[in-house]
Amino acid sequence: MKTPSKQAYVPFVSVANMMKIVLHIGIERVMADLVQEIEADFRRWGKFDKTPRVASHSDVGVIELMPTSDGETYGFKYVNGHPSNMKKGLQTVTAFGLLASVDTGYPILLSEMTILTALRTAATSAMAAKWLAPKGARVMALIGNGAQAEFQALAFKAICGIDEVRFYDIDPAATAKCVANLQGRGIKLTACKTPEAAIEGAQIITTVTADKQLATILTDNMVGSGVHINGVGGDCPGKTELHRDILLRSSIFVEYPAQTRVEGEIQQLDADHPVTELWQVITGELAGRTSAAQVTLFDSVGFAIEDFSALRYIHSKLAETGMCEQLDIVADPDDPRDLFGMLLRSA
Ligand SMILES: NC(=O)c1ccc[n+]([C@@H]2O[C@H](COP(=O)([O-])OP(=O)(O)OC[C@H]3O[C@@H](n4cnc5c(N)ncnc54)[C@H](O)[C@@H]3O)[C@@H](O)[C@H]2O)c1
Repeated sequence: MKTPSKQAYVPFVSVANMMKIVLHIGIERVMADLVQEIEADFRRWGKFDKTPRVASHSDVGVIELMPTSDGETYGFKYVNGHPSNMKKGLQTVTAFGLLASVDTGYPILLSEMTILTALRTAATSAMAAKWLAPKGARVMALIGNGAQAEFQALAFKAICGIDEVRFYDIDPAATAKCVANLQGRGIKLTACKTPEAAIEGAQIITTVTADKQLATILTDNMVGSGVHINGVGGDCPGKTELHRDILLRSSIFVEYPAQTRVEGEIQQLDADHPVTELWQVITGELAGRTSAAQVTLFDSVGFAIEDFSALRYIHSKLAETGMCEQLDIVADPDDPRDLFGMLLRSA
């Protein structure tokens, strides 16, 4: 049987190796590195092919493909969102992704992305807050204490200097899990019985709940002046977390408007409601927060460039860590035109 050439082997990062890589580097270090990578790619926004993700909806969830390319490297992520999965003992969100060389079209990396998505989502949230949250913010309310929650808490600690997180979930077991998982990491952890109690004294409010409906996790009277809202859980048509009145008095920042207008909180607003693209704040073209009393909202839905940045980061760590396997995923006949002959000879 033919041994594939070096080019035909593709590094594969399994869940086990992703966990090893992240723990080897350090979770907070990875978050900080990812913020740098994503910011660097947002600064060269114009170089990327951009398209809203390709979504296939069902009554219970969504399956999506998220492609992009910077002209040298192509990437995509496969990701699902199934809020009812948790009751079946399954993850709400799972993902894997691929990078390929634009020159040859050959894949250069295949990776698990369930963990990587949680890391990049938290890093993107903290990156947005770095530009938009009120100066000196120390306390964050974290509403929705599922799979994404601890990642969000740690990213805000590492990047924004948050030192108290106030947790609320309709399921107290989820809050208890977060508090247990985050012990000893330099964050004051406060479990709250109501969302109102969680947002008391918080300068940043993160909502990261999962429910396939137009939910109202925050009502208008719960949001005081000057706070920054990091709305993560509303990321699908018909799936939002914030009351419309909050949106009407917020300055709204988004990743890619063509996608966010369909999937984000702003699906509740007119199609021409003004929003600011985050990359323009990062490049200094447009202002972020302009006053202490302003309510800022990062209407996060997750965009392909963030996954691309995260995959490239992991790819860059493989030589140093060796934490990957080699997959025989690309057919590699000695004579490129003799694919059939290679098949016959393999018998
Ligand atoms: N914006 C992005 O880039 C991005 C990335 C990943 C996930 N998400 C979204 O984030 C959400 C959370 O994902 P996850 O993986 O943590 O899901 P999860 O199912 O693990 O956790 C969701 C939590 O929300 C809680 N919850 C549901 N309704 C609530 C309510 N009314 N008030 C308080 N808590 C409530 C649930 O009890 C659960 O603990 C999902 O909607 C997912 O689609 C967004």
